[in-house]
Amino acid sequence: MSNPALRDSKVVLAVTGGIAAYKAVEVCRRLVDSGAHVIPLLTDGALRFVGEATFSALGSERARVSLFEDEDPIAHVTLGRLADLILVCPATARSLGSYAAGISDDLLGATLLATRAPVVVCPAMHAEMWEHPAVGDNLSLLRSRGVTVVWPEEGRLAGGDFGAGRLAGCDSIVSTVAEVIGADKSELRAKGGSMAGLRVLVTAGGTREPVDPVRYLGNRSSGKQGYAIAESAWARGAEVSVVATTSRPVPPGVEVELVETAEEMRQAVQRRRDADVVVMAAAVADFRPSRMSAEKIKRSGKPTTIPLEPTPDILAELAKTSPRGQTLVGFAAETQDLLGNAEAKLRSKGVDLLAANDVSAPGAGFGHDTNAVVMIDSRGGRASVPLSSKARVAEEILDRVLALRSQPECGEEPSNTLEGSDGGGRLPCVGTRPDRDLNLLVSHP
Ligand SMILES: Cc1cc2nc3c(=O)[nH]c(=O)nc-3n(C[C@H](O)[C@H](O)[C@H](O)COP(=O)(O)O)c2cc1C
Repeated sequence: MSNPALRDSKVVLAVTGGIAAYKAVEVCRRLVDSGAHVIPLLTDGALRFVGEATFSALGSERARVSLFEDEDPIAHVTLGRLADLILVCPATARSLGSYAAGISDDLLGATLLATRAPVVVCPAMHAEMWEHPAVGDNLSLLRSRGVTVVWPEEGRLAGGDFGAGRLAGCDSIVSTVAEVIGADKSELRAKGGSMAGLRVLVTAGGTREPVDPVRYLGNRSSGKQGYAIAESAWARGAEVSVVATTSRPVPPGVEVELVETAEEMRQAVQRRRDADVVVMAAAVADFRPSRMSAEKIKRSGKPTTIPLEPTPDILAELAKTSPRGQTLVGFAAETQDLLGNAEAKLRSKGVDLLAANDVSAPGAGFGHDTNAVVMIDSRGGRASVPLSSKARVAEEILDRVLALRSQPECGEEPSNTLEGSDGGGRLPCVGTRPDRDLNLLVSHP
């Protein structure tokens, strides 16, 4: 059953080479059933006990098994960054020792050092190993660094023995993971994150433009990216409103208004137009039927054409009237000439930051849990976020928003050296916000 703390959380499930590795299959399944996005990682030791195929089939993604031979050349960094939590289950004496000593000679060791996410370890081993002072010392050290331990139980061990060191039960492992992830999110917010005091408005999902009472013109947007941005902004302490066409779980205190058409979205956005940051992640229809048929169009009616008219351009409208100090972020879903189209959109809409994604690329865009975007901003800054979880993409976008907000407005004297500036004097802008300079393009590699 779905667990709110685990829903949409990215869990790297690292399986190491102990006899209890087979129990990690059930843990994997339970985490996935609870709504977590599970990426299995198997050590060489684990592969002697359980199969890669099992975890690839039951996890949310293929199992990762190699530091050097993965299709991602920096798999350890990617995993370390996208994880909301790393669970080592079961954790062998060897893996605990390596982690405590900071050894990164395999994918697990390197990922554990490359992450800032919380780590939960579930030791499991024979009683003699469990009672060895080296194992106890390693665990004490890891705990002092903030690692959570799910303590093993007494019970039947391999070879018919009985004693301490048996892997904790699946229930207590899954509930500890949920607790640690939940606590991490709340702690971040309670600390007063980087967006404390800011009002953030996010739009999400694809609009639906009615043709008749039962049919509509729509698109494939799921709203996942917009909701991920809303959740990240909330975790950073912002006051968050979402205007969306799709409903997804949100953290406590996030206001959601559900709408259907571009016009309804426009009105809902206009009511919150004074937000400090507006992220238009929704896929708003460009056209709608000029007139909605009051009755269901019958097959016998044989309509040959549906006349269309443009929908309101919410983003451009916002840009024209956006209050000073507001940061406006747009999205561009493209299927060709990503950068060219994104640059054109940045200029024509007059936004501060544009996140462009190639929705035809594998794993990116509509409906997926992952995305890849190129970010270009009105100061000429460019950055690309390779295929990552939508939560990670959200973090990168909000980091960029904060970086832009920390820079002086165009035309003001810069207070320090800035990425995207020409090093002094008036700051260049390439956007077309009405209060900003035009025509200066500063390219960044
Ligand atoms: C049959 C068998 C069972 C084992 N069970 C465990 C175990 O439960 N816990 C443990 O720490 N090591 C156990 N080991 C030792 C590990 O497999 C060994 O230390 C291995 O190098 C661990 O690799 P890894 O930590 O990279 O997965 C076992 C070895 C064998 C041959």
